[in-house]
Amino acid sequence: MRIYFDHNATTPLDQSVVEVITTVLTEDFGNASSVHHFGQRAKARLDEARSGVAELIGAEPSEIVCTSGGTEADNFALRGVAEALEPTGRRHLIASAIEHEAVLVTLKALARRGWRTTLLPVGQSGIVDPAALAGALADDTALVSVMHANNELGTIQPVADLARLAHARGALFHTDAVQSVAKVPVDVGALGVDLLSLSAHKFNGPKGAGALWIKRGTRITAILTGGKHERTRRAGTENVPAIAGMGAAARLAAGKLKREGERLAALRDRLERGVLERVPGTAVNGALEPRVPNTTNISFEGIEAESLLIALDLEGVAVSTGSACSSGTLEPSHVLRAMGFPAHRTQNSIRISLGQGNTDE
Ligand SMILES: Cc1ncc(COP(=O)(O)O)c(C=O)c1O
Repeated sequence: MRIYFDHNATTPLDQSVVEVITTVLTEDFGNASSVHHFGQRAKARLDEARSGVAELIGAEPSEIVCTSGGTEADNFALRGVAEALEPTGRRHLIASAIEHEAVLVTLKALARRGWRTTLLPVGQSGIVDPAALAGALADDTALVSVMHANNELGTIQPVADLARLAHARGALFHTDAVQSVAKVPVDVGALGVDLLSLSAHKFNGPKGAGALWIKRGTRITAILTGGKHERTRRAGTENVPAIAGMGAAARLAAGKLKREGERLAALRDRLERGVLERVPGTAVNGALEPRVPNTTNISFEGIEAESLLIALDLEGVAVSTGSACSSGTLEPSHVLRAMGFPAHRTQNSIRISLGQGNTDE
């Protein structure tokens, strides 16, 4: 028996999503820009998917730009806003220290091109303090990017409060919601953000499909240029099967969001309690609330996380040490490091992330 506890890395496709993708691959193969029947069928698939994604986050379909995933959406948000606002003299960017590499490495690239950047610290709660953002904002801040839920801890950031602070200083606000969309209710209006990234393979959709939601009127420059796809915001013939799969997965998630959230929270809490009670020297990393319902991150005193991961894998249980990008190396998690944990704790922690296929058994 194999148990998959790594849903924050990626999720299996739902069977109904496989069927949509297969149908589109085989029957609706047209280019969505073509005027003829085949093109129009592909375009209808795109429209349907776009509205499915929009509904899941309380947005307008016209504000959804389909991308190749979360990484591209994050790159588009940061690079696109930076380029659009450059002429205004706003040359400062802010992000939290616990962002995904898609944001952190992009920020570093922009820093090399002359942008001033600030990383907001987090304490051992794994939650950004709005006071830290208030202190970091400057008159020339162009964009603040703080993720909605952290991929390693599951902690949910006070995005609405942070966005209000950014707007009060005239800065735009982006949130990487790759780990919160389809796990907790996400409403772009309630969050009050300008840009939001999501990725289909985190919610039983296909890899290589995601979206950047761009609030109407937000100043942003396309980073992929060419044809007039996606209202000239992202050139390139659309990956219609994957996008249709994302739309189907979004509708599926919307239909069971509350029920599945409660189910996963109960499973996660039972698992967490069971480990803490039975294994001496264990502790949960980060605040217990607010957190997405499927994630826990636990440190095991005196055990190297990589060894534990391999031992669990031999027993048929798949977990991870922090983000997938750093597994395979012994790099301590940048998230746990930013939280101020000592080296041994950053190297003895594993992430367990539950999903659709997990049961009480
Ligand atoms: C918070 C966060 N942002 C961005 C990404 C990147 O998304 P994608 O794998 O679709 O490029 C991930 C995936 O691990 C993530 O967890």
